[in-house]
Amino acid sequence: MKFLVFEGLDGSGKSSLMRSLEAELVRRGIAFCRTREPGGTPLGDEIRNMILRTEGASPLPRTELLLYEASRAQHVEQVIRPALAQGTWVLCDRFTASSVAFQGGGRDISEKDVMALNDFATGGLKPHLTVLLDLSVEESRARRQGRGAANGESEDRIESEADSFHEKVRQSFLKQARAEADAWLVLNAQETPEVLFQQLLKALAEKNILK
Ligand code: TYD
Repeated sequence: MKFLVFEGLDGSGKSSLMRSLEAELVRRGIAFCRTREPGGTPLGDEIRNMILRTEGASPLPRTELLLYEASRAQHVEQVIRPALAQGTWVLCDRFTASSVAFQGGGRDISEKDVMALNDFATGGLKPHLTVLLDLSVEESRARRQGRGAANGESEDRIESEADSFHEKVRQSFLKQARAEADAWLVLNAQETPEVLFQQLLKALAEKNILK
């Protein structure tokens, strides 16, 4: 069983890449569960709404971090660990690296503090691989706006941050990937979905995750 995480700026194509991988796992008869952060549990979904809503009280940066971590603690204990213990693969849309990137990089909270809280929330659980779909801030904004126009959804509180915030987030993801190169796969999100999927399969084979 494997625990795979997908990260990137909003609009980077995480969802479609995850869908392609799910179809591959189904073809191979591999049991998996797909989940996401913040959220993934009933309490986590309530916390998600508190964090991302644009009306009502906004959390301060440290409060925001603690809310993400609270959602994560619940998620790891109730969903991720039980699934892995049963031999089920876990595909997770965002995890600890997002807190380092958004709250550490974006909100300027010390990375050391974020990592310590990540550790506390997860009890030290680490993904086998984190896949980063790297995308420029300009392209991320264009894709978010296109998506918003298409489905009528407005931006959430994090998405509506300035480009300078998202640039810091992007750089933090890249820095994390460089620091732990074996545990990360960086893909250029400008490639077509088919190319990205083939690159993912190749890397999973090379890393003996999916042969
Ligand atoms: P996501 O589910 O990817 O958003 P959407 O469903 O709109 O694509 O993530 C919600 C937002 O929360 C996203 O902007 C990233 C942010 N986030 C953090 O700031 N810190 C975290 O630890 C996590 C998990 C997400």
